[in-house]
Amino acid sequence: MFSVTSTRKLPGRRLSGFYQDVINGLKASQKYLSSKYFYDEAGDKIFQQIMASPEYYLTRCEMEIMQHQSGAMAALFDGEPFDLVELGPGDATKSWHLLRELIRTKAHFTYYPIDISSNVIGWLEDKLPVSLPGLQMQGLNGEYMDRMEYVEQISQRRKIVLFMGANIGNMTIQQATLFCRQLHDRMRPGDLLLIGFDLKKDPGTILAAYNDRQGVTKAFNLNLLKRINRELHADFDIDQFGHYPVYDPGTGACKSYLISRVAQQVHIGDEAVISFSENEAIFMEISQKYSLQETYYLARQAGFSPVHEFYDSKKMFSDILWRRLP
Ligand code: AVI
Repeated sequence: MFSVTSTRKLPGRRLSGFYQDVINGLKASQKYLSSKYFYDEAGDKIFQQIMASPEYYLTRCEMEIMQHQSGAMAALFDGEPFDLVELGPGDATKSWHLLRELIRTKAHFTYYPIDISSNVIGWLEDKLPVSLPGLQMQGLNGEYMDRMEYVEQISQRRKIVLFMGANIGNMTIQQATLFCRQLHDRMRPGDLLLIGFDLKKDPGTILAAYNDRQGVTKAFNLNLLKRINRELHADFDIDQFGHYPVYDPGTGACKSYLISRVAQQVHIGDEAVISFSENEAIFMEISQKYSLQETYYLARQAGFSPVHEFYDSKKMFSDILWRRLP
């Protein structure tokens, strides 16, 4: 099926985590690439186009929730001063509505957006204080769990954590349980967590969101091959790969694959040669969908109890507030 016919390492050369992950993924019997690498500069731009595409309902649904229900959310946060920690805020266009509501109602809080991209954090620190006068904020660049621990060191206030955008869906249910458990371990009893879940619905609607007619999602997946070509000196022939998303309404897993159209070999640097057979698949991304019952189960497994579900008008998406159990 596959083979890496050589993985000769040049003496003394340090190999990046990206390189190692790509090689490990393409060496596996079921080839895979990690979707966390989708987001280079070009990938960020393509993702913006996905969010604006007619088929990709997720962003519009969550935006509707935040535009219309931030007041109700803010009311549930009422109480002692708190730290509002947002994991992966992007350009914060959705959480902006909640921040505005919290400022309007004179809540005592500091906003800590955490992102792996220093560009994102720099941009938010420039823009938000201008569009939201009075906002107390400190942007944190780094890994989520590490930066959560840092916030805990510098502030003893209760925590409200935001993890929106259905980013939880880009983990398997098992990974999501572990991730939520890790959040639990960095929060205190009574702290709150708001998570965005894309809900199970008409399978055709879901599949179309990952198979848009304009081919933007296809370009998003292929862009990772282009990135590997550029950054790791590989020679993927992009035209020789097709995009194939599938949705399983039983498990709720929407999975994207790239399919090698022909038998071919791809070189990565001068160290690795990856062989593909005709129609061999590279697993690219999972976008897991949940029933409400499954979100309850996940909450319980990770040590949280559901407080409130916020839905869009068509009940396609839900931002769910959980309380951290003792
Ligand atoms: C970021 N994440 C929630 C998106 C999703 O829906 O899984 C990424 C995406 N992949 C293809 N389209 C959108």
